[in-house]
Amino acid sequence: MTTPERCKHLWDVCVSILKREVPGDFVECGVWRGGSAGVMGLALKRGRQQRRLHLFDSFEGLPEPTDADGKYAAEYSGGRSDGILRSVDQCRAGLEEVREFLFQNLDLDEALVQFHVGWFQNILPLDVPGMGPIALLRLDGDWYESTKVCLEHLYPLISSGGILILDDYYCWEGCAKATDEFRQAQGIRAAMHRIDDEAVYWEKE
Ligand SMILES: C[S@@+](CC[C@H](N)C(=O)[O-])C[C@H]1O[C@@H](n2cnc3c(N)ncnc32)[C@H](O)[C@@H]1O
Repeated sequence: MTTPERCKHLWDVCVSILKREVPGDFVECGVWRGGSAGVMGLALKRGRQQRRLHLFDSFEGLPEPTDADGKYAAEYSGGRSDGILRSVDQCRAGLEEVREFLFQNLDLDEALVQFHVGWFQNILPLDVPGMGPIALLRLDGDWYESTKVCLEHLYPLISSGGILILDDYYCWEGCAKATDEFRQAQGIRAAMHRIDDEAVYWEKE
């Protein structure tokens, strides 16, 4: 679901992290059919380092947005915008489809990938305590609450020199709001760089 610029940037970031030996795993929250996860997985495969790819998704599609996501998000969700954790039938792809793409089409090693299946709000508190450092965190969950909960649980695990990518900063207003609030609350001053019309990234100091 991304652009050639974003795919190229993602690949370059992965290669740079491996070259700079920034400690930690690669993580994506919001996987859909696995396009960006595939780029990250292929980079890890080429890098031949002991790192894993963690993939978080409901594998049921987007949940309901909230008022913080604005009018267009509510329209996109068929008028359902109470923040209920049930699928609005957008960006829906099942776990089997993603597994087939990663392991059959791209021939990634199954041991490389750990799937975290469920709503971020439910699964992150359970699974994050068992995780180690993160070198690359890619957030692509569109909504305010989805972005906020991922930042709160996963940002502290990013190593110094690691990269955070926000796929939806200039696409969905809730993503920008959650990001700006988090930066303000945490006193994060690292410069935010634009990747293309929608996505941004910064390097953790
Ligand atoms: C825009 S798609 C991801 C696109 C994908 N990264 C790509 O590169 O093509 C958004 C994904 O986020 C997931 N998602 C959003 N909010 C979520 C939440 N709170 N819990 C679990 N999954 C969520 C949806 O299921 C969907 O697969």
